[in-house]
Amino acid sequence: MLVSAKEMLDKAKAGKYAVGQFNINNLEWTKSILLTAEECKSPVILGVSEGAGKYMTGFKTVAAMVKAMIEELNITVPVALHLDHGSYEGAKKAIEAGFSSVMFDGSHYGIDENVEKTTEIINLAHSQGISVEAEVGSIGGEEDGVVGAGEVADPEECKKIADLGVDMLAAGIGNIHGKYPANWGGLNFEVLAEIQKLTTTMPLVLHGGTGIPEAMIKEAISLGVSKINVNTECQLSFAEATRKYIEAGKDLEGKGFDPRKLLAPGAEAIKQTVKEKMELFGSVNKA
Ligand code: 13P
Repeated sequence: MLVSAKEMLDKAKAGKYAVGQFNINNLEWTKSILLTAEECKSPVILGVSEGAGKYMTGFKTVAAMVKAMIEELNITVPVALHLDHGSYEGAKKAIEAGFSSVMFDGSHYGIDENVEKTTEIINLAHSQGISVEAEVGSIGGEEDGVVGAGEVADPEECKKIADLGVDMLAAGIGNIHGKYPANWGGLNFEVLAEIQKLTTTMPLVLHGGTGIPEAMIKEAISLGVSKINVNTECQLSFAEATRKYIEAGKDLEGKGFDPRKLLAPGAEAIKQTVKEKMELFGSVNKA
């Protein structure tokens, strides 16, 4: 069932668990994540960066693929198709293409321009039942060309954006896209607690889910995080399983070069990673 992310996140906030956003890159990724969500009876958010959208030939292709796959695989759990770190123009295009949720990342603008542009996207999206994520502060590192300095969010600015009526709010609290460096200082729970205090029922989003220790994930959820984004970890699992298959010479045995065989270990590895995250985030049996 393709739905906006609003209801599943409000439920997660009230139930003190988090829904995973898993980024997709192609058909195999999408299929693995949908099948795992169904098996775990968990709501799920499929994240699509602008770069991944282009790679898959455009948002329309992605929306058509996801809708058809939900139907053909008989997926009954709630699924949101969500634009990740969308630009202003990108968010409009994703809405037009049939996404059920969008992130407008205005964090690189000054707060006034972020407020102005976020408001426009909210008006456009909400008139069509589409949920909106906004961002304050920035996520460190780089994801598909979106680079952030890792600036910690100002809780007062978070309140300003939350009060506009967004459905979920991403706040920079020392989190980073990609692998965490050995000297990483950890998540800033003091700021997270302050943001939660000022934004009360707003589902908060934790980007950079790859490599955050379990105890920190649990503490973040207890402080109001209801959506956790994971991208790199599925890429690493896929790559590792594929490398093992090729290094073992399996592609040279019989018809092991058939792409359906060659990509199968990676697709299975993604399923395992997604399942582990759903268990950790507490979203299993919450569909
Ligand atoms: P990771 O790649 O670090 O898991 O981050 C994913 C993310 O935050 C997507 O927006």
